[in-house]
Amino acid sequence: MTTHAPPTDLCQLFYISRSLSTPLDVEAILVSSRRQNLRRGVTGILLFSGGHFAQLLEGSAQALRETMAAIDADPRHEAVTRLMEGPLAQRRFANWSMAFFEAPGADDLIQQLLAGPPVSPERAQRVVERMLAPCLHLGASD
Ligand SMILES: Cc1cc2nc3c(=O)[nH]c(=O)nc-3n(C[C@H](O)[C@H](O)[C@H](O)COP(=O)(O)O)c2cc1C
Repeated sequence: MTTHAPPTDLCQLFYISRSLSTPLDVEAILVSSRRQNLRRGVTGILLFSGGHFAQLLEGSAQALRETMAAIDADPRHEAVTRLMEGPLAQRRFANWSMAFFEAPGADDLIQQLLAGPPVSPERAQRVVERMLAPCLHLGASD
């Protein structure tokens, strides 16, 4: 757990991907992600549905660029698809270098999103909020 002063250009990015990971891989991903995110001042949450990942990243534009380069290059998943990205007023997972949430119920939704045509920004926003709703309590500060 850590707390970061807000960078002046705070941004967020949410993507989905298809998992190629074993349970042991997921543990290892979390360990290295948390180390790298602490270093870069990145916070957020990783959702794992069994067959898919969804991840919210919060940090400076430069930190998110570096983080997404590592994520795009990681062979433990594929079809990395950005659903939402843009400026952010305030972090929702400020105390987490990467929170983790198992969300088996999100598997079908993510599969449909990856199989279908690109979604509009409005639909993407709704989908992101729906996926984050069950785990927002993890980001609460008290
Ligand atoms: C589902 C998934 C989520 C990841 N999340 C992060 C992340 O939050 N931050 C990060 O730096 N790398 C992330 N990565 C990339 C890997 O953890 C990558 O191996 C790591 O950044 C490289 O660090 P290392 O020097 O410890 O191998 C993710 C990879 C996958 C497959």
